[in-house]
Amino acid sequence: MKTIIEPFKIKSVEQVKFTTKEEREKILKKAFYNPFMIPGEDVLIDLLTDSGTSAMSAKQWAGILDGDESYAGSKSYFRFEKVTKKIFGFKHIIPVHQGRAAERILFTNLLSDLDSNGRYVNAGEGRYIPNNNHFDTTRANIEFNNGTAVDLVIEEGKHPSVIHPFKGNMDLEKLENFIKKVGAKNIPVCMITITNNTGGGQPVSMENIKAVSRICKKYKIKFFIDACRFAENAYFIKMREKGFEKKSVLEITQEMFSYADGCTMSAKKDAFANIGGFIAMNDEELYMQSKNLLIITEGFETYGGLAGRDMEAIAQGLEEILEESYLQYRLRSTEYLGEKLLENNIPIIQPPGGHAIYVDAKGFLPHIPPEQYPGQAVVCEIYKSGGIRAVEIGSVMFGQYDKKGKLIPAEMELVRLAIPRRVYTQSHIDYVAEVFIEMAKSKKKIKGYRIIEEPKFLRHFTAKFAPLK
Ligand SMILES: Cc1ncc(COP(=O)(O)O)c(C=O)c1O
Repeated sequence: MKTIIEPFKIKSVEQVKFTTKEEREKILKKAFYNPFMIPGEDVLIDLLTDSGTSAMSAKQWAGILDGDESYAGSKSYFRFEKVTKKIFGFKHIIPVHQGRAAERILFTNLLSDLDSNGRYVNAGEGRYIPNNNHFDTTRANIEFNNGTAVDLVIEEGKHPSVIHPFKGNMDLEKLENFIKKVGAKNIPVCMITITNNTGGGQPVSMENIKAVSRICKKYKIKFFIDACRFAENAYFIKMREKGFEKKSVLEITQEMFSYADGCTMSAKKDAFANIGGFIAMNDEELYMQSKNLLIITEGFETYGGLAGRDMEAIAQGLEEILEESYLQYRLRSTEYLGEKLLENNIPIIQPPGGHAIYVDAKGFLPHIPPEQYPGQAVVCEIYKSGGIRAVEIGSVMFGQYDKKGKLIPAEMELVRLAIPRRVYTQSHIDYVAEVFIEMAKSKKKIKGYRIIEEPKFLRHFTAKFAPLK
C-alpha cells in the first residue's frame, strides 16, 4: 500500500470555534498584532507550536490517573527513570517542569563558578557555547547568565531552497577553528540541537554527531544534545543515512546519545506530554550541582517541577514515540503540507523538516525589508485570512540591535507552521494550504510592522506591534 495513514483512531474530540474575518481583525488589533497574545479559543487551526500541544493517547491518560504523587520516591518517577535511562543511556536523569528549566540548570552551573560556600559567582563573561543553532530559550538562558551563544550550522542550513539531507549538521571546520580561537577552557559545553528547530526542523546525521563528539573529546569539552525532537531526528537518519536502514529507531537513538555527555529535553515535544522535561548527564560533579539547584528552584529530585502523573504520561509517551508507523506518518504529513505550498510557489525551507514547515517570508514578501519584519506580516495575514496561528522565526525572534540601535537582522526571515502531534487531520492541513494560496494572490498589498514595545529577553513572546501604513 502506498498511502500512509494515521496509525491511530480518534477517541475524544474538542470543538473548534469559527470566527469571521472582521472579528479576527479586531482580535488581532487587541493582541497588538502578536499571535502569542491571541486567546487560544479564537484560533481555528493552531500551528503556533508543537510544544505541549500533542494529543495524548488513552494509555497516557490512564497513566495520569495512575500517577503516584508521593513527594519522595514516587513509583511514577521510577518508571520515568527506567524508560529514560533505557532510551538515552545516561547515568543521571533529573526531571524538570520543561526544557528551559533544564537549560537554566545546565547553564547556571556551567557559566558560573562556585565559591567556598557553594554560591554562584563570576557568571558567564568570556564563556562561549556553540550549537548548530540555539533555540530561543537556549540562547536566552545562556545570555541571561552572561555567556555568549554561538551558531555554527553548515552553510547549506542557512539557505532555504538548498537541498541537503542533513541541513541541521554542525560545520565541523568552523567548530574546530572557533575552539582554537577562543580557547577550549572558555567553552564549558558544546551543544547540538536535534532536529534543528531554528533552522527549519532539519535533522543532524549520525556521522556529524559522532564527529562533534570526537572534536569535543579532543579538546576536553562537554558535549550535550538538545533532545526535544530526538525520535524525528532518528527516523530521518534511518531514512537518509547509509547503514541505518535496518536499525530500529530505539537503536539509532541509543547510538546518537552514546556520543554525548548529557542532554536537555523538553518532553512537550517528542514525549507527547503536555508538560515536562529532564536534564541527563554522566558527570558526577555536574549532577550534584544540578541536583542542588533543582531542589532550590524546581523541587525534590524524584519529581523536579512535575506531578507524579506527568512523569507517567512522559514515560508512556516516550515508548509511543519510538513506534515507526507513527514516525513515518509524522514526517509524511509534514512533507504533505510542504509539497502543497511548493506546488503553489510559496517558498519554504527545503526539504521539509520533521515537526513544521517553515515559510521563507523573505522570499515570499520581497517588498518588505527585515526592519519591517516580513515574517510577522505573514503571521498576521494568515490569522486574519483564515484563523491560523503561526510564529515568526526571524528578526523578531532573533534580531539584535547594534550600539546605535539599528536592527541586526536574523540570518533568515521564517514563519514556522508547527504541526501538533496527532491533533489535525489531512483536511485541516488542506485548509491551511488553501489559506496560503488565497493570501498569495494579493501578497503585494501586504504591509510590514514596527515594534512599539518590547522586553530585553525573548521579546517575541510579549512584544507589541503596529502595522505600517
Ligand atoms: C529546540 C528546543 N530547545 C528547547 C526548547 C525549550 O523547551 P520548553 O518550551 O519546554 O521550555 C524548545 C521549545 O520549543 C525547543 O524547540
